[in-house]
Amino acid sequence: MSPHNKIDLEPPVLTHLLGLDGVPEPVITEILDTAENFLAVLERPIPKVPSLRGVTVANLFFENSTRTRISFELAEKRLSADTINFSTSGSSVAKGETLLDTVKNIEAMKVDVVVMRHWAAGSSKFLADRIDAKVVNAGDGTHEHPTQGLLDMLTIRRKLGALKGLKVLILGDIAHSRVARSNIFGLLNCGAEVKVCGPATLIPREAESLGVEVIPDLDEGLKWCNVVNVLRLQLERMSQGLIPSLRDYQRRYGLTRLRLEKAAKDIVVMHPGPMNRGVEIDSNVADGPWSVILSQVKHGVAVRMAALFLISGREKDEG
Ligand code: CP
Repeated sequence: MSPHNKIDLEPPVLTHLLGLDGVPEPVITEILDTAENFLAVLERPIPKVPSLRGVTVANLFFENSTRTRISFELAEKRLSADTINFSTSGSSVAKGETLLDTVKNIEAMKVDVVVMRHWAAGSSKFLADRIDAKVVNAGDGTHEHPTQGLLDMLTIRRKLGALKGLKVLILGDIAHSRVARSNIFGLLNCGAEVKVCGPATLIPREAESLGVEVIPDLDEGLKWCNVVNVLRLQLERMSQGLIPSLRDYQRRYGLTRLRLEKAAKDIVVMHPGPMNRGVEIDSNVADGPWSVILSQVKHGVAVRMAALFLISGREKDEG
């Protein structure tokens, strides 16, 4: 399928991309297959296509980001979209303007797609219910980070060939992680098995109702899995007393070379970034032969191109 073709997806799945909860396997596969096409585009001498010419995208970042923000901006440029970038510092949010007023004003300038990162869980849905532009969630509080989940799935699929039947261990601070939630929803919808490992204080109460088992012991988890996705220990939560100390966390849940060697099998190591080297992951693991961390970043641009293309394509077709 060419990225220039019409994509025939049933609404409401890609009217917006707010999360992976409830997104069925064929739709996820469609996004990942489209991302594969865009990966090929990114390998060309001139890595640019006219697919989103005439489409205006606003990137609204109410929370810090390195990878996601740059990746979306690059994806939009590669698709020939017009873009505007907004962050809270230097904006009228500092004067007390509400999220809705801010976005309504930006939308009045004829924006087609809003990409938003915000600290409040549910903020993307709030916006999608109230504006005409398409909304792509670039991370909303502890709720979801769907493009991260999709780029993680693309990375696994490219490395191991398929998602169905694979065993994925998500390690660390599950309770506060939107990355964990999007991975869990997306991977389960695609037939993978998912288990989580971490201190009881960082495992959400609803883990088992989400369809994932808890493995308290990391060595047991490594024996079980094909892929381990290591999450950032959110150091800002240390003050809440959720773990005894960084040293204790590293000893029990830090992914070390010794642990991987003890597992004595091929395990793919992922991390969404930013990493705390020497805490949740050692440098010789992050930079070692197990790691696909920089591939994840590369795949992120193609996945975001696919998401923006599919959403905008629908809108053009409706017109
Ligand atoms: N993975 C991720 O969301 O990283 P950023 O916070 O840097 O965007």
